[in-house]
Formats: sequence, C-alpha cells, structure tokens
Amino acid sequence: MGLCISKLRKDKFLISSNNIGLESESINLSNNRDSNRFHFENGRRYHNVENSVYFLPNDDDECDRLHLQHFIERYIWQSNFFAPVDHLLCQEGAMVLDVGTGAGSWLLEMATNYPKAKFIGLDISPIQPEFIKPKNTEFIEANVLETLPFDNNTFDYIFQRILYVGIPGNNWPLVVNELVRVLKPGGYIELLEIDFQYSFMGPATTRLINGILIMFDERGLDPMACYKLQGYLEEHEQLHNVHCEIKKCLDCEDGNKLCKLSSENYTTALMAMKPKLMSIIEVSSDEYDNLVKKMGDELMELESFNPRVRVYAQKKNMKK
Ligand SMILES: C[S@@+](CC[C@H](N)C(=O)[O-])C[C@H]1O[C@@H](n2cnc3c(N)ncnc32)[C@H](O)[C@@H]1O
Repeated sequence: MGLCISKLRKDKFLISSNNIGLESESINLSNNRDSNRFHFENGRRYHNVENSVYFLPNDDDECDRLHLQHFIERYIWQSNFFAPVDHLLCQEGAMVLDVGTGAGSWLLEMATNYPKAKFIGLDISPIQPEFIKPKNTEFIEANVLETLPFDNNTFDYIFQRILYVGIPGNNWPLVVNELVRVLKPGGYIELLEIDFQYSFMGPATTRLINGILIMFDERGLDPMACYKLQGYLEEHEQLHNVHCEIKKCLDCEDGNKLCKLSSENYTTALMAMKPKLMSIIEVSSDEYDNLVKKMGDELMELESFNPRVRVYAQKKNMKK
C-alpha cells in the first residue's frame, strides 16, 4: 500500500506503487546518501544546502542529541502534540507532515502510535533511518525555505518543532504560508519553538549566550521567534482557532533530573557550535571548553530553564 503518494508532486518525485519504493534516480531521498552533499569541519559533518543558515552538524553524535532533545520535549510537555488531532490521526490514510524532522524521533514514535496515518518527515539532511522504521513513514529531503514538493491541501496535520535555528526571521510568514498551502481545510498546523536564553544566567552562560546572539544576528535568525508564533498564525487569513501554550518554568517532579538532561543537551549543542562560537567570543579552544563546562554547572546550580512556546491553528474551510 502506498503513501497516498498521489498527493505528492509528481514533477519532483517519481512515485512507485509500493510503500518504500520511491524511485531513486531523480529524487533526493534519505536512501540516496551521496557524500558530496555534506561538508566536514573539525571532525563534524554538516549539510551543504546553499541557502540554508542552519549551523548545527548532521552526524551521528548530533542525531543522538536530537533524540535526547525529543525525550526532553515530550517530558516537559507531557505529550507529543498540542492540537486536537487524536481523532484525525486514528483515521485510515490521514496525512501528517513533520517539518525539519531531524533524526525523525517524533515522527517514528507518532507513526508507531498511529499506524493508520501516513507520516512524512521532511529535512534538508538525510539523517533518518532508511530501512528500520514503521511502514507508514517516509522521509524526504527538502527545504522549507522553498516551495514544498506537495500539492495544495495534502496534509491533515503539520507539525514543526525547533526550526528557529534554520528559519531567518523575515522568512517566518512565508514558511507559515507555504505550510498552510499544503494543509487541508479543516486540518491543523502546530509549531513549537524555544527561547534559547535562560531564565537565570551565570557569567559563563551569559558569555556563551551573547555569542549565540551574534551568530543569530549574522544569519538573520530570530532569537525571539517563539514569542511570535501565535501572531504568525493569527495573522494568516486562512487560519482560525489559534491556541497558544507557554512553558515558563519546570513544573514537574523530576525538575532536577530534567535540568541535568537539558543542560547536557545544551552543552552538547554548544560543543557542536564550537568552531564558529569560539571565534565570535574570541577565546582559545581550552577556554571555550572551560566556559561550556562552567555553563553546565551554572545551569544546574540555578536550575535554569529555557521558556518554550507551542501553538496550533486550524485551516478554515473556505467557501468557493
Ligand atoms: C534542532 S533540529 C529539530 C529536529 C526535530 N524537529 C525535533 O524537534 O527533534 C532542526 C532540524 O531542522 C532541519 N532544518 C534546518 N533548516 C531547514 C530547512 N530550511 N528546511 C528543512 N529542514 C531544515 C535541520 O536539518 C534539523 O534536522
């Protein structure tokens, strides 16, 4: 059984009738792993997409971090999603898109929980499992800053999480517009973003965060994107029923354990940014490592938390 593939754009994708067999010659799928599509710096592997400002690596270590991040998010929110889509996802052939799917952690779990729905994960990097994955999943390589390779009104539910590191501030309304185009009337769009600045910051944390702010500025990224999500959805004329939830502090029993995992996640990401950030904040390699270690200690001591925001909206049924 195919993936309701008739809804995908055939000019970009060769469609085959079986589930896994998207033809390989003219498409960029995760199983088409051509090494010149990557570049390497200081032993880490990165994407090679020209117009992307995304700066984190896409190697195995980063995949491990992304899995950890997924479990952290699920624990913080105590759920994998916010929109009222449970009934939709139980319907045969419901179409779901995960934008910037990363290692595919969210999608693989959701696809297992909702076997009747079809899940498509989209990312600029082909870092998702090729073979060992639920049958109702497919991964494609595509750039959300460009026209997406799907027909209008394809998906019942679109989910996008932690893309503020890849979408320049000016592009947000265009990206939302493109996601709404491929969303079915009556379907839901959900966005979740993080404020990378902490509620309480010690000196090492402040120094590193200031460096990241400069890096964001150089790339046109918006460090405050999470606080604008609700506005982006409310301003779109084809959306209504906008809902927003903000997490400002840890309100769970395992706060300390979570803080430890969060701090590990953050400091691992900082090590991945090391070559770029080191030159921005003008420190040596050893000084950088030391700062990151100190930041980890500060985060634990102050029990710091990054606020995060999730929003969802429904696409209107427009009258003809
Ligand atoms: C921080 S990770 C988040 C992964 C996943 N959404 C999650 O929450 O676990 C960001 C992902 O977005 C992808 N990405 C960045 N810019 C992108 C773009 N322009 N189009 C598609 N994917 C992009 C990256 O390759 C990376 O896998």
